[in-house]
Amino acid sequence: MESFPATAISSALLSWGTGHLRLLPWRANRSIYGTIVSEFMLQQTRVQTVIPYFIRWTQRFPTLECVANADDEEILKHWEGMGYYSRARNLRRLCQILCQMVTFPQTPEEWQLLPGVGPYTATAISAIGQNFDAIALDGNIIRILARLIGCCENFENKIAAATYLKSHAISLIIPGRCALLNEALMDLGAMICTPRGRFCDVCPLKDFCQTHRRKLPMDAIPAFVRFVSKNEIVHRLLVLRGGKVLLQTSQLKRLHAIREFPKLLLENTLCQSPCFVGRRIIGSYHYEEQFFSADELFFELIDFHRGTVEWVSISELEDVVLSGPHRRWLPRLLELSINARIGDWKIHL
Ligand code: ADE
Repeated sequence: MESFPATAISSALLSWGTGHLRLLPWRANRSIYGTIVSEFMLQQTRVQTVIPYFIRWTQRFPTLECVANADDEEILKHWEGMGYYSRARNLRRLCQILCQMVTFPQTPEEWQLLPGVGPYTATAISAIGQNFDAIALDGNIIRILARLIGCCENFENKIAAATYLKSHAISLIIPGRCALLNEALMDLGAMICTPRGRFCDVCPLKDFCQTHRRKLPMDAIPAFVRFVSKNEIVHRLLVLRGGKVLLQTSQLKRLHAIREFPKLLLENTLCQSPCFVGRRIIGSYHYEEQFFSADELFFELIDFHRGTVEWVSISELEDVVLSGPHRRWLPRLLELSINARIGDWKIHL
């Protein structure tokens, strides 16, 4: 690793990090609880989205014990809109277990034995929350390391890239400084060594960076094999009666107990067009959600395997836990369902 002067790189990172870290709410009044909550929220959600959730969560649940004793519905309500709800349930189980422990886990290996804590989160909690000597290789850090070494590999995925770059990451460790080192790397990746790589002029690592020195294409490093996205159409029922809308409680593991507009079992059988179309992306899946306003004549088309249905009054909609996109689309959907003229369309069975 001759072209990788690890000690000089770490020193530059530590002095840059001392003055340039982002002021994030989990970095004010630091605690291991705050680190755990932020790392769970950041598993699949961006920093800017997490900020208001983290503030609201820690106001309502200021301690591990508060989470451990909260009921499922309230936990999910405070997670609503971030998706991947198993994180919230695992966080509660984790808090319940930690409340019973005399001493907290002290290494990534020990953290990883607990619910919802994978290898990345375990390392991040240990390194950031307990200053354990390790680097948590997230997307930002992978990008920085790949650029520093001028890496021309085409990686299958992030795990393959992390495996390839692991020894470089380990060589950066300065014992007792890994909390700051990790955060400096994360923030450098978020603010300066961004995917498009336009801020090299102000980068504290530019003198060590092979991509910069050899004028390699910054936005092509690291390279990942392109995956093919899959498209899926989902049909939904939009019905309002007596000030109530029909909602379904999902039984899918991923969305367990989250309410959504009922899913219809349709194979291009409707002859009218949807009254509303929403789009969402989950991983490599691109979903198009088509909403049809209808009356109970079409209840038999509801996909009951997906979950049970119930009428929820509009005034109670604020209190139920609704799927994130459906919550965002709700004002428009309600407007449409109020104006819908039912009975002027047909169905081919
Ligand atoms: N991404 C994952 N963990 C993070 C953290 N603690 N700060 C900023 N971004 C992160």
